[in-house]
This record gives sequence, structure tokens and C-alpha cells, in this order.
Amino acid sequence: MTDKEAIRARHSVRNYIDRKIEAEKVELIREKIRELNEEGDLHFQFMEDAGNTFNRLMNRAMGLGSAPSVIACVGPKGEDLEERIGYYGEQLVLYLQKLGLNTCWAGTFNKKNIGAELEPGEEIVISIAVGYGQTQGNPRRTKTVEQVTECQKEMPDWFRTGAEMALMAPTAINQQKFVIRLNEDDTVDFIDKGGVFSRVDLGIIKCHFEIGAEETE
Ligand SMILES: Cc1cc2nc3c(=O)[nH]c(=O)nc-3n(C[C@H](O)[C@H](O)[C@H](O)COP(=O)(O)O)c2cc1C
Repeated sequence: MTDKEAIRARHSVRNYIDRKIEAEKVELIREKIRELNEEGDLHFQFMEDAGNTFNRLMNRAMGLGSAPSVIACVGPKGEDLEERIGYYGEQLVLYLQKLGLNTCWAGTFNKKNIGAELEPGEEIVISIAVGYGQTQGNPRRTKTVEQVTECQKEMPDWFRTGAEMALMAPTAINQQKFVIRLNEDDTVDFIDKGGVFSRVDLGIIKCHFEIGAEETE
């Protein structure tokens, strides 16, 4: 499965079957996390047993309590931490999709119960539920390319595909509050229009846009 196929196949999944992730896959996930942590200066942690991470009323109502495992998105405090977590966390989400697993980013979770290790100066920003879904999730409402882009010249195909892939990205409460701007000199700016977890969203958007803008299928 290519990255683009993984983007098309992914939807948030909140209800999971009672099946643990196989040991070989757990090892692959841990290896991928080591790689991404190094590249992004992060401290993501795979918690094989999600335990009571999703014991909040909201989680129980949404079904996330059935997730067998969870990723704790931890990193050193700083200006761009949330955006980096979004960018590298979404690479992990797409990798998990390729392994046949389902996921859901979750800002609502129990920060104590997740059991993550925090080094001095680190914080936990968000979590990602992981497991085998009861379903593969569903497509949802989306804005259009025109609604989330600004172009200072005619829109090239690579930019349109990038924006289309960005619109398939998960955003908190499906807010899609971002603008992708194409400048005269072909540089691209990503603009955050605010909202809950919008910096994490922006990192996720960048990850999807880059995959879309590449020439490979
Ligand atoms: C930063 C972020 C935080 C999120 N927090 C939650 C959450 O706390 N609970 C939940 O059920 N879904 C959460 N989601 C999932 C979004 O609701 C979901 O991505 C959005 O509705 C779009 O649907 P899709 O992921 O199926 O494309 C979150 C997503 C993101 C990106």
C-alpha cells in the first residue's frame, strides 16, 4: 500500500474488536516510533495495553474505550511541539494503516492513566488510539479545495492533489480550519485559522499535502 492509498483508506475508527496487536507488528511499530522520534526530536511511546486511558465519559460515549493500544504523543516543550507531533504522528498513523490497523487521534483521554514516561521538560500533547476496528470507518463531510486554498497563480496539478490529500486528513472535530497558499514563486504556506488542537492539525495537513504533491502514486 502506498502512502496515497493509505490516506484514501484511513478514517477515524472508535470501536475496536477484542484482538491484541500481534508481537511482530508491535516490534515494527516500536521500530517506526524510534525512527520518527529521532527524526522529529520527539518521545512518542507505544502503550501496548491502553488500560484506562479512555475512561472519560466522552470516550466511553464515543467508543474509544475499546481500543486495545494507544500511542502517547510526548515531546520537549516548545513553540513548534504540537505541529511536529501532528506531522510525525500522522506518518505513524499512515504506517499503522499500512499494517492493517485502525486509529483515531484523541485529544480527550486520561493523561495519568496512559502511563507515559515524561523526562524533565517534556509534556504529553495528545494520544492516538490503535487497534483492529469493528469497521474501517466512514467518509465524512469535507470542505472543497477552493475553500481551503489561496493561489497567486493558476493552480498546478501537484498543488491540487496536495490540497485534496490535505482534505482527507483528520482534524480535531473535523474543523478543517486551515488555508494552503500557493505563492508566485511556487512556495507554499500553511496557515492556521485557530481552533482546538489547530497546531496539531496543521502538522497533519503538511504531512498529507507533501504526500499528495509528490509525483508518485
Ligand atoms: C488533533 C485531533 C484531536 C482529535 N480528538 C478526538 C477526540 O478527542 N475524540 C474523538 O473521538 N475523535 C477525535 N479526533 C478525530 C476527529 O474527530 C476526526 O479526525 C475528524 O472528525 C475527521 O474524521 P476522519 O478522521 O474520519 O477523517 C481528533 C482528531 C485530531 C486530528
